[in-house]
Formats: sequence, C-alpha cells, structure tokens
Amino acid sequence: MVSAPPPPPAAQVLVASNRGPVSYSLRDDGGLDARRGGGGLVSGLSAIGAEADALWVCAALGDGDREAVRRGVGEPGVRMLDIEESVHSDAYNGIANSVLWFVHHMLYQTPLEPVFDEEFRRQWAAYETYNRAFAQALADQAADGAAVLIQDYHLALAPGMLRELRPDLRIGHFSHTPWAPVDYFRMLPDDIAEQLLRGLLGADRTCFLTRRWADAFTACCTELLGADSLSGTRIGVHGLGADADFLRERAHRPDVDERLEALREQIGPGRKTIVRVDRTELSKNIVRGLLAYRHLLESRPEWRERVVHIAFAYPSRQDLAVYRAYTAEVQRLAEEINATYGTAGWTPVVLHVKDDFARSLAAYRLADAALVNPIRDGMNLVAKEIPVISERGCALVLSREAGAYEELGEDALAINPYDVTGTAQALHEALTMPDGERSERSKRLAVAATALPPQQWFLDQLRALREGG
Ligand code: F6P
Repeated sequence: MVSAPPPPPAAQVLVASNRGPVSYSLRDDGGLDARRGGGGLVSGLSAIGAEADALWVCAALGDGDREAVRRGVGEPGVRMLDIEESVHSDAYNGIANSVLWFVHHMLYQTPLEPVFDEEFRRQWAAYETYNRAFAQALADQAADGAAVLIQDYHLALAPGMLRELRPDLRIGHFSHTPWAPVDYFRMLPDDIAEQLLRGLLGADRTCFLTRRWADAFTACCTELLGADSLSGTRIGVHGLGADADFLRERAHRPDVDERLEALREQIGPGRKTIVRVDRTELSKNIVRGLLAYRHLLESRPEWRERVVHIAFAYPSRQDLAVYRAYTAEVQRLAEEINATYGTAGWTPVVLHVKDDFARSLAAYRLADAALVNPIRDGMNLVAKEIPVISERGCALVLSREAGAYEELGEDALAINPYDVTGTAQALHEALTMPDGERSERSKRLAVAATALPPQQWFLDQLRALREGG
C-alpha cells in the first residue's frame, strides 16, 4: 500500500522572490556547493529568527539550483521552484528585466523601443505562468491567515493570483525599484498595464522604498483604474537602511585589511580617492560617471596624479546582450582614460569587474568622495553604506534620481545624472571640501543612512500587515 505523503508544514510567515537566499553550483565531481547570499531581505528575515514557521519561496535559477531541487537537497525554510527553464527565461529575461525594469527605470531609447508585438505577448504568457507557479506554491504552504511578503517586479501578478486562491491570507508586496511616472507607464499596452496594477492591488499592502515611488504608483492606479481602485489596498513606505552593526564589524576583518593594503599600493601615496561600487547595471550610469571623471581630469589638470577613481563594476544579467555591451563600454572607457592620462606611477581609474565583497568594503574605508549617479534607482544602498564605513569621512556625490536622495539629499552634493559637466563640478567640490565639513556631513549621512536597519525594516512591514496598518 502506498501511503499519502505527509502534508507540508504550514508556514506563518512567507517570503517570495525570484532570487532566493541560497544558490547551488555543480562541482566537477557531481557534488553540489551551496552559497548563501546577502542583502536586506536576508538579514531582514533573520529578525524573526526562531519564532518563525517561516518559508522563503524562490525560483531555481541555474543548473545547480535545478539539480538541488531534483535531488531534494535544500536548506530548511527555503523552497525552490523548478519552473521550466524556457518559461523562467521568458519571464525573467524577457518581461521582468527587459520590459518592467526598463519601464520603471525609464531606460528605453524610445525612437526604436519598446515594441510590443507577438513575441512580447508570448513572453507575457510565460510571465503569467511564472507568477501563477509562485501563487500556487504560496497557497499550498501558507497556514491559515499567514502573512505573505511578495517581492519585486518579477512577481507583480502574484498578489492578485494568491488573493483568489487564498482570501484568508495577509498579503504584502514590496517594490525594490522605482515606480514609473504615469506617462511612461502608459507605454505598456493598456491591458498589460491594467493587469500589472490589478495584480499588485491584490495585496493588502503595497510598499515602496520612498514616498516618490509610492506616489507614482498611486497616480498610475488613479489615472488608469480610477481612484476607487485603491480602496482595498494600503500603500506603505519603508526606506530600507544600511546595517551599521554588520558593516562595521565585517569591514574590519583580516580579509578586508588585506585588500585595503593592496588597494593603497595601487593608488599610491597622498592621493585622493573617488569610489563607486555597482553591479554593471544600465540604470547605474557608470559610463557617464567615467565621462565626468574624464572631464574633471581634462578641465582641471591640477587633479592629474592627485586622484584615483576606484570603480568596481560587477557583472550583472549577462544573458542580455545590452548588458554585455554596456559592460564592454565601461571597460573600454576606463582603459581609454588610463591610456590618455595615466603615467608610469599613476593609474587614473582602478576598475575591477570581479565581485569581491571584502574588496568593496576596503574601498569604502578609503573613500574621500563617493560617486553614486544612477539614472534612476529604487534606493541605492551603496550611497548609504559608504558614509558608515569611510575612515576619513566621505563627500557623497548623489543623483537626485536615487531613492536614497530623499533621506540623504541635505548632506550630499546633488547631481542631475545626465549632466556630465555638472557631475565633474560636483566631484571637484567633493574633493576640495574642507576636512571639517566633510567629516560633519559624513557623520550626519551615516546617521540618516542607518535609521531603518534591515531587521527593523522587515519587522515594521510584518507588523503593519498583521495589524492592518
Ligand atoms: O535592486 C533592485 C532589485 O529589484 C532587487 O530587489 C533584486 O534583488 C534585484 O534588483 C534583481 O537583480 P537580479 O536580476 O540580479 O536578481
């Protein structure tokens, strides 16, 4: 006789996101290596610790993850969904990263794109399937009245789908990106725009990193669906901050000290540093950052030999041709600047493209100026982290289009991210800021940046969801 499998444990708190807290890679000998990721959500969720019957539902992203699912290997509290590879690719690369990311970050070169054709419709069907797989998994695993926190633009339809399957649940959605202004959002076909909004309005609370993005969402709902559409959903704003305790401890471990020494050697004695650390993401505006630095060296030759731009640009979304081309352009431009201005004892741009968290922290410690110039960004945690770690206090050159600007704007040097000469001028001001002023501003930036650490950020959302706030 075959007995029925035991019922899956019913979770009280569930998190859903495309990328999970752990990933697996296949070794040559066929074994699996697990690697835990970091980030706000991972440390936020740790706040509920042992209390929790918590479950994190995520997608299997690569061959290692898929193999782990097939072998039944997994971490407690994590459920990976083995969604068919082509469906995942169409949903993630096709819709989430090539359409929704572009809309919310306003990245299209509009004379030629976007084009919403049959191919788009085919990919959209995959996006629906992918969202349905998450909604079904959450519905299957949630206890009565459980709290479900769904993350990001990958899963914009899941709240509405889950609401239909399980009306008893408390559903929250969090957008870690900006939200597009109404006119830009309306580039999407009308039925798709409506479906996206209704998907998110399936949540009890729909949350954003800043008031600006929340207002943009509200404006889209009001304009496209009417003011009544918002009556069943509360809008929340939770400005995720840097994790000061973690950063301060981690930034002084031996591996960071080691990298600090290596960087100091590369920079050379007595030179100032301009630091940036990003994924090589189209929205991060790394190319215009390099153009601004080149303009600084060209227009103010007194900086030659006296400053080094430390630029860490870690690979991201390399399945997409446009990201590969962008990565190549960043490297080409850095090399060109070094070839034009470099001397035997001075490399103007130190560019690293291999992800190394310890080296990033070492660069944070060395920063005299930080350059954070995104075209548009949900928050930008680097802007918040550098002032916490920099040893001499750093001047922050910050795009007014970064979410972090809402909290840090007063003590930062604000820039229009498209204005390369303006950015060069701000870099000059940052480098010449008197020590006392720089250190005072940096202290205030660090206080503002750490006002809402990840654990509190997560608990606030959970409480508001449970209490109807
Ligand atoms: O930074 C915004 C964000 O939406 C994060 O919430 C999310 O983890 C990331 O972008 C997605 O990036 P990736 O495509 O590398 O998973």
